[in-house]
This record gives sequence, C-alpha cells and structure tokens, in this order.
Amino acid sequence: MRIGIYGGTFDPPHIGHMEAARTTMEALGLDQLLLIPAALPPHKQLPPRAASAEERLTMTALMADGLGLRTGRGNVVKADGMELARAGKSYTSDTLRQLHEQIPDGEFWLLMGADMLFTLPSWHESEVIAKLAGIAAFARSKSDTGTVLEEQARRLRADFGANVQVITLPKVIDLSSTHLRTLLQDGGGADLLWPPVYGYILMHGLYDTHADLTRLTDEQLRACSWSMIYAKRIPHVKGTEEEAVRLAKRWGADPELARRAGILHDCTKYFTLDEQLKLCDKYGIVLDDLEKKAVKLLHSKTGAEIARHVFGVCDEIHDAIYWHTTGKANMTTLEKVLYLADYIEPSRSDFEGLARLRKLSYEDLDAALLLGCELTIRDMEERGMPVHINTMRARDWLKGQSR
Ligand SMILES: [Fe+2]
Ligand SMILES: [Fe+2]
Repeated sequence: MRIGIYGGTFDPPHIGHMEAARTTMEALGLDQLLLIPAALPPHKQLPPRAASAEERLTMTALMADGLGLRTGRGNVVKADGMELARAGKSYTSDTLRQLHEQIPDGEFWLLMGADMLFTLPSWHESEVIAKLAGIAAFARSKSDTGTVLEEQARRLRADFGANVQVITLPKVIDLSSTHLRTLLQDGGGADLLWPPVYGYILMHGLYDTHADLTRLTDEQLRACSWSMIYAKRIPHVKGTEEEAVRLAKRWGADPELARRAGILHDCTKYFTLDEQLKLCDKYGIVLDDLEKKAVKLLHSKTGAEIARHVFGVCDEIHDAIYWHTTGKANMTTLEKVLYLADYIEPSRSDFEGLARLRKLSYEDLDAALLLGCELTIRDMEERGMPVHINTMRARDWLKGQSR
C-alpha cells in the first residue's frame, strides 16, 4: 500500500496545498494520503487570533474531505493529528517510525515543497527519513525550476541514498500562508481556500476576520454552510440551491430567499443526535415522540434555528427550512419550493416517480407537492417506517384543495 504523508502547519490549509496533494496522488498512484498538521514550537510568537492546534486540524480535515470529493476517492485522504497529540517537537523521523509501526506493510512517500527539499539534509535524523520514506518534491513557486530541483534530487540520492521523485505541478500556486492571513484580515482570501475551510474561518473568527455572520454574501454563506457538512453532500446542497432559485422564479416566490433557504437547508444534517438534542434544548424546539427517535427529522428544525440565530435569516427562510423534510398543511410558496427543490435537484439519484415529479414541479406546483408527499408516504410504508403526521396533513390538505 502506497501512502503519502503531507505535513505542514496548515495555518490555514489552502488551494496550493490541495493542488499539490491532488497532483502527487495521481503521479505516484497513492492508495492513501495523510495530511498531518505539525505542532507549532511553544516559543513561537503567534498573532492575536491565530488558529489553535485543534482548529488547524479541523480545517485540514475539511480540506482532506474536499480532496476526497475532488479525486472521487472518498475516504483515502485523511487528516491525522498524531503530531499534535505527541508531546514535544514535531520530528518527521518520529512520525515515520510511528507510521511504520502502525502500518508495517506501508510504502511511505513524504510530500514536500521545493524549499523543504533544499533544507532536508539539515533536518533532525535526515538519513532516517530518507530510509523510511520516498521523497516527492514539487515546485512551490515560479523560481523553482525543474532543473534546480532535479540537481538537488540527484545530490540527495548520492549523499543519502534517498529515493527522490520530482513532481511537476501543472499550475504553480505561489502562495504563502502569511500573505493569505493578511488577505483574510482585509476581507479577501476566499478564492484561495477550499470553501468549507473559508467558511470555518469566518464562523470561528480566525485570523481577525471579524465577519458579521448575519450579513454574509451568498458566497460566504455557502462556505459557512458547507463547512458544517461532509463534502459528499455539497453537490446535493448546491443542486438544491440552484433548483430552489429556478422554482422560485417559476412560481413567483423570492429567488434570493429561496437561494438562502437552499444554501442552509441541510447545514445540521451531520450533527450527532446528541448535538441535535442540545440545539433543540437551546432554542426551545419541542419534539414529538417520532422526532425524538428519528434523528433524520431533527436536522430541518435545528437547521432552521441555526439559520435564524447564527445567520440572521428572516422568518420565511426559517420556516421553509423548518418544514423541508415533512411538509405540513397550509404551506407557503417558498416552503413548497424548498420542499420540492430538495426532492428533485439534479444530483438526486434516480427513484421511481422522479422524472414525473421533476416535470410536474414546473407545470403544477401543488400537484407536484402532493405527489412528493405521496411518494414519501409510500416509501416509508414500504420500509415499515412510521410516517410523520405533518406529511399526512400536507397530503390531506393538498387533496382537499384539488377536490
Ligand atoms: Fe434535509
Ligand atoms: Fe436536502
């Protein structure tokens, strides 16, 4: 098994890291890639709102998840906090020893930028490092030409017996974390970060961003919402946003409210039952018996409260999110739009009735909603699961109307 190891302070992890990692994964045919944030020396002077070790690890995990999505290989990229957990200085030789112990049949490759390749001989136990792992070095700036790197690689092969491979990146992103932190402080930097990492920075006020979460742009709101979910759900959330805007335009609801409802509708989808229940307690959400047991039903309620209390959305958006899973009697147009957008968005995998539901959604809104409720009820019954009372009420209300 070929395992790549990519260390760094990841303060914050950015698209330069992401591109280098992606290209190296492909070039070396890695089976797995571990992103390992380094512990910062305790004496290092940190800026006032620096990221903590835990925050750097979380941001790295968000980027790892994104890399999994980008490469279409879900769980092969992971963030690992082993250096943060270890007491004392982060020595790469120790990390490699530990990994060899954990995965005895692993073939390890250390990913590094050109600047690191030039300093490698002075690293602690560099000869041990060269024995325990191959070195994959990539150009980090326009001045790192292939020839200079190749020369250094040759030297390391001769002096250390190191197994060095030079990786040519198709696009060199010359970006320093220090510069990026300054950009973030000045309100920029979004285009240099994987959106969920950017959202995490905004939500936690890292690097003196001071964003007012109730006045975010669509791009920023999207980033925040995506920072709370797994990357595999992003296509669905993006699809729901776009479908909701289209349906709103078709049926006369406010497209911008629909957009924001779509962006936020599943933001608490992956919170644990415990986290969901804590939010219910915090925001005074009263649960019925079915909701207490079916965690799937809770995310619409907790998501609506996060949308309201954290992101300051209006009641219409709150209510659309609140009812997007079960529906109810007397739904507003915006509520209907979000319910259906969630059901028919383009990335939904096919199910019986989907094509008809998609067509009907643009021909007759209430008929589509009724079909949506009926499909849900039938599906739940077939799986022997209880149907929520509000879905029944929505169906009966729509049936009464169509009579
Ligand atoms: Fe949902
Ligand atoms: Fe959804």
